[in-house]
Amino acid sequence: METFHLLFVLLCSVFTLGHGVSRNNLPILSFDEGYSQLFGDDNLMVLKDGKSVHLSLDERTGSGFVSQDLYLHGFFSASIKLPADYTAGVVVAFYMSNGDIFEKNHDEIDFEFLGNIRGKEWRIQTNIYGNGSTKVGREERYGLWFDPTDDYHRYSILWTPTHIIFYVDDVAIREIKRTESMGGDFPSKPMTLYSTIWDASEWATNGGKYKVNYKYAPYVAEFSNFVLHGCTVDPIELTSLKCEDTSNPNAIPTGITPSQRAKMESFRKKHMQYSYCYDKIRYQTPPSECVINPKEAERLKKFDPVTFGGGRHHGKRHRRSRAVAM
Ligand SMILES: *[C@@H]1O[C@H](CO)[C@@H](O)[C@H](O)[C@H]1NC(C)=O
Repeated sequence: METFHLLFVLLCSVFTLGHGVSRNNLPILSFDEGYSQLFGDDNLMVLKDGKSVHLSLDERTGSGFVSQDLYLHGFFSASIKLPADYTAGVVVAFYMSNGDIFEKNHDEIDFEFLGNIRGKEWRIQTNIYGNGSTKVGREERYGLWFDPTDDYHRYSILWTPTHIIFYVDDVAIREIKRTESMGGDFPSKPMTLYSTIWDASEWATNGGKYKVNYKYAPYVAEFSNFVLHGCTVDPIELTSLKCEDTSNPNAIPTGITPSQRAKMESFRKKHMQYSYCYDKIRYQTPPSECVINPKEAERLKKFDPVTFGGGRHHGKRHRRSRAVAM
């Protein structure tokens, strides 16, 4: 009896470890526990296990889902496998927003996956808006060290009152620290989670040069391992309802360890292709929170001399940017 009981307990915990929690011990939700369909009719398909979802884009429509709850801060994650082959113009997004509640001064934290022509890799874009700061885009774009169409990879957002960290698998790829000078531009109101696939022919691939080609449709993005681990907020009163148990120190990362930071720096050195801080066409003076790293500036300038070099034909702009960079 004893042995049987022990075996039963062991089996249960093996099962739970394998299926019920993520690598950092956060509970994994089924689709119905955390999310609802946002649009796209049967282009959203929940698989039999209830824990995986396919979102597809075809001639008729894209598709998307939205979290049932509104959250103020937390750790939010999904494993995603992107559609392969020709995907120019296709965008898959995993993001937080409150645009439906705060139309004029919304907040946003974005992961956007930008499709590409055949043989060229997907790129990831990250961005934030705070309190309606849509005039100041804070985009960064990166290549990846793997093919995101081969398998599932985990994409996570950590959002605290003082910083936002984007992760790919276990690698922190970007940290945004709240600075005084950012003012309201740092996301600080409750948001819901969204995931969508849509036709962004107008801008996604080389500024709209390559459109979605429906000959290759449907484009299917696969999702699983849903983690929604934050403080839920009442959508009417906007008061805090419930925060997840944070007594487990492994549960929510609270910041970046030195070894994670070293990994992040090395990722950014190798894979960052765009940063708003260095875009001299958009910002003659970089937004206040930017810390300009001359080596990074030099590398990006080699990558794209027009955007990061200030544009050779704009002498005035060039001079001004140089003054800022020094
Ligand atoms: C956010 O925007 C609203 C309306 O535009 C403004 O009244 C408020 O002061 C802003 N908050 C912050 C923190 O900047």
